[in-house]
Amino acid sequence: MTQKVALVTGAARGIGLATTRLFLKSGWRVALVDWDGAELTSASADLEQVLPIECDVSSPSDVEDILSKTLSAFGQVDALINNAGVADFGPIEETDFERWRRVMATNLDGVFLMSQAATPALKETKGNIVNIASISGLRASTLRVAYGTSKAAVIQLTKQQAAELGEYGIRANCVCPGPVRTKLAMAVHSQDIIDAYHDAIPLNRYGSEEEIAEAICFLASDKASYITGQILAADGGFDSTGVGLPALRKS
Ligand SMILES: NC(=O)c1ccc[n+]([C@@H]2O[C@H](COP(=O)([O-])OP(=O)(O)OC[C@H]3O[C@@H](n4cnc5c(N)ncnc54)[C@H](O)[C@@H]3O)[C@@H](O)[C@H]2O)c1
Repeated sequence: MTQKVALVTGAARGIGLATTRLFLKSGWRVALVDWDGAELTSASADLEQVLPIECDVSSPSDVEDILSKTLSAFGQVDALINNAGVADFGPIEETDFERWRRVMATNLDGVFLMSQAATPALKETKGNIVNIASISGLRASTLRVAYGTSKAAVIQLTKQQAAELGEYGIRANCVCPGPVRTKLAMAVHSQDIIDAYHDAIPLNRYGSEEEIAEAICFLASDKASYITGQILAADGGFDSTGVGLPALRKS
């Protein structure tokens, strides 16, 4: 049987790198896409069966390159993991258009462009798309006008993709991670935010990159062959919980 191929964006570190490692452990080959060339080189140095591609997922011409390089090297794409993301937390009045566009360009345009470009290859393999949104796309909170809106749009985009691409045998699903201590999160999570998350999450802790990767790789695998259009919160219970939990806890 031919080895399957995953194309993982934002793969140089954090959740994307953990996902890459898990795919490799399961016998897949992986094209790692990231715009940070130095991180990409060091992340892929000790990995086999990989193709590092330094590109920007928000640039239409880069996106074309990503697909052609992946197909030349590996000949197929079985799963596209749209994981590249940027975070910028700020009040509505201070989020100028440039900040708004910077977030939308990667988090939303990138997912649209990569998925569109990969669709012909995914039709060939009856492959699938896993988009990485966030609990910030499921529940609103302060300072996330651009980030939360971009992630809510990714959730809807996933449903659009599932509705339209199902007839080609292509599945599309979405993982909404809760907080994970990656570079992205630690740049915007103050101690107050960290404490608030601990209080609001039933499992009472942050998640790990590996826990999010498990959810992503499950949805990308044949084990999820009848699952499409679904939004899976890997979030310690945050999304399912209302107000009042900390006060009602026994400890
Ligand atoms: N860490 C969290 O708490 C958390 C929570 C919810 C959702 N997420 C989402 O998970 C995904 C991964 O985040 P992470 O925490 O691992 O972040 P991270 O910053 O560690 O990794 C993101 C990677 O994406 C790359 N990247 C960003 N923009 C890019 C672009 N335009 N083109 C190519 N590469 C680009 C970065 O260089 C980086 O290597 C993101 O979509 C993020 O929004 C993270």
